[in-house]
Amino acid sequence: MTSASELAQAFNHRYSAPPRLFSAPGRVNLIGEHTDYNDGWVLPIAIRARTWVAAAARADGIVRAYSRQLGEEYEFSLRRAPATCRGKWFDYVEGMARVIEARGVPLGGADLMIDSSVPLGAGLSSSAALELALGQALLSLADRSWSPQELALAGQMAEHQFVGVACGPMDQLVGALARENHALLIDCRSKECTEVPLPSMAAKFVVCDTRVRHRLAASGYNWRREECREAVRHLRAMGFAIESLRDLRVEDLERALKLLPAPLDRRTRHVVQENARTRAAVDAMRRSHLQGLGRLMTGSHVSLRDDFEVSCRELDFVVETALRCQGVLGARMTGAGFGGSAVLLVEENGVEAACASIENSFAQEFGVQPELYVTEAGAGMRPESATVH
Ligand code: GLA
Repeated sequence: MTSASELAQAFNHRYSAPPRLFSAPGRVNLIGEHTDYNDGWVLPIAIRARTWVAAAARADGIVRAYSRQLGEEYEFSLRRAPATCRGKWFDYVEGMARVIEARGVPLGGADLMIDSSVPLGAGLSSSAALELALGQALLSLADRSWSPQELALAGQMAEHQFVGVACGPMDQLVGALARENHALLIDCRSKECTEVPLPSMAAKFVVCDTRVRHRLAASGYNWRREECREAVRHLRAMGFAIESLRDLRVEDLERALKLLPAPLDRRTRHVVQENARTRAAVDAMRRSHLQGLGRLMTGSHVSLRDDFEVSCRELDFVVETALRCQGVLGARMTGAGFGGSAVLLVEENGVEAACASIENSFAQEFGVQPELYVTEAGAGMRPESATVH
């Protein structure tokens, strides 16, 4: 894990200027998956792992960025036409800079250095962490400050236009607005965010990174989003007054499903029921009903596996193995799917044994060591301070 001072020092060494520092966290979504782009509800927490950006202003319109993780540098001129969707990390850099300018903030140029403890492609939202850390840095160099919501939506836009992933607003909103020891219930239509205190926990959230890496743009993510749109078009043509799948009521679901061709029926069932599960999960958390919360999480996984079809063999294996362990109250894949991580709710005194058992079985089955750790709910994006010696 980078310390602020170490990053500042490395920046100073490379670019001979004292930087300003900013960070933003990764996230684990507890429940409410593939609902955000259907205007529904999600319930993520920010994790402790963060992405850091050190930045200093330039006056020549050049943006230069160095990734410490990858040992790569890249630069472009704001005065030239933008480039998009090259499938590289600097799509995010160019995307944030261009979107901020398009929203009325002229940028003079910047030297940037990036470091991160959020694993790439693990379903823990390294992309939004990078967008938010970059966005804060670029705005600060331009002497502007935006609301966290505004910056989050700029990140989402950068991802749509410069990365080619038609993501929803969840990852950016939680990265911008999360508070320690709280989950964030987000209504993705109104963008209203409600902090939900984590129950004083006799249980822990455990993340299991399968190390199966996905590429969202290349995966079925955009395709799933299109299927949901298609389901809405069908239902509207059949007389349902809905703008998005969020508007379909649980009581109307059976009738709607009969009118939809496969697989749009299964996709629709997932979204409608997942929205209901998410709101029930908030209730369970408020009442400290951990068994209930666990059951909802497992229900979410089954639905993502069978109806939304975004799980994979490794994630299913983790969930099934976990549920056989003593003290595991619930388990599900988290994030977009097609690889990445699972999140488990485990009674405190069962954590150690469950982690060891999952690790062993997984390694035996797939020949790969998964990474398991207890996660707490961390804080959202923020400026950081550092001393350079
Ligand atoms: C990715 C996207 C989010 C959300 C999840 C699935 O993390 O960036 O907007 O759609 O997948 O819930």
